[in-house]
Amino acid sequence: MDLGLQDKIAVVTGGASTIGKAIAEGLCAEGAKVIIADMDEVQAERVAAQLCAAGHNASFVATDVGERAQVEHLAQSVLAEHGRVDILVNGAGWTVNGLFLDKPVEDWEREVAVNLWGPINTSRAFAPSMVEQASGKIINIGSDAGRVGEYQEAVYGACKGGVIALSKALARELGRYKVTVNVVCPGLTLPEKSEDAGSMSLWHSDSPQSQIFRNQETLAKVVKRYPLRRHGVPADIVPLVLLLASDQSSYITGQIISVSGGYAM
Ligand SMILES: NC(=O)c1ccc[n+]([C@@H]2O[C@H](COP(=O)([O-])OP(=O)(O)OC[C@H]3O[C@@H](n4cnc5c(N)ncnc54)[C@H](O)[C@@H]3O)[C@@H](O)[C@H]2O)c1
Repeated sequence: MDLGLQDKIAVVTGGASTIGKAIAEGLCAEGAKVIIADMDEVQAERVAAQLCAAGHNASFVATDVGERAQVEHLAQSVLAEHGRVDILVNGAGWTVNGLFLDKPVEDWEREVAVNLWGPINTSRAFAPSMVEQASGKIINIGSDAGRVGEYQEAVYGACKGGVIALSKALARELGRYKVTVNVVCPGLTLPEKSEDAGSMSLWHSDSPQSQIFRNQETLAKVVKRYPLRRHGVPADIVPLVLLLASDQSSYITGQIISVSGGYAM
């Protein structure tokens, strides 16, 4: 199937690592021009350089999606350079697992800033140009934690639940302008190479999640809760994102789709 993504302008937040990186690579492979917007400037530059070295069209803009002024600057610079934005993928995310009663409030503030304010800020910054051009694809990377409620992920899950409601509301408001808004919800998704797990800011090295990853016995127990009996890898998420970014999905909006081996149904 020709997805028709050649020369489309795509912004991928969180595109410097794991799932966002795989999405940026997938979009590039389809011929899109990808702008990685990530607060990890070093890694974002490295990924953009790797993509360019492979013959693709990629660049980066260091951006903290929780900071509205930085997101506005991102939108201005992308629109100044490319004149339009066709695809916005909100992949940036951050969390630290922990019981609601134990977690420091500073963690909640950062979780809300990245996971909820991030997609609000980027949608506000990019949707006007999509409305004006009467086309656009917004794809929010949610989480099954936002669908089912997850132990030790109360505020993160609340943000992802908020992203689901935000996406449905925007789908209703923007549909008349042919702008679609959908949510892709991963379940447990780990990098193909275990050494890359250390670089996941979502799961920083001393977080409980990374302990799970290091302990094969615990990981095996977790995976048993998935009907397909394995955890996800970034490549599992990419095909659905590409479909939702293409005009092949022009009649799909406001949908929440899990890519999680059947974890949430
Ligand atoms: N990995 C999983 O198991 C899993 C499960 C469900 C949902 N998700 C979601 O998938 C998305 C990608 O997660 P991942 O697993 O690739 O994590 P990751 O930590 O590997 O990547 C997250 C990226 O977001 C960037 N980032 C963090 N805060 C930012 C900010 N304020 N502004 C801009 N960039 C910021 C990081 O620098 C990093 O490049 C996230 O939205 C996450 O919530 C992941």
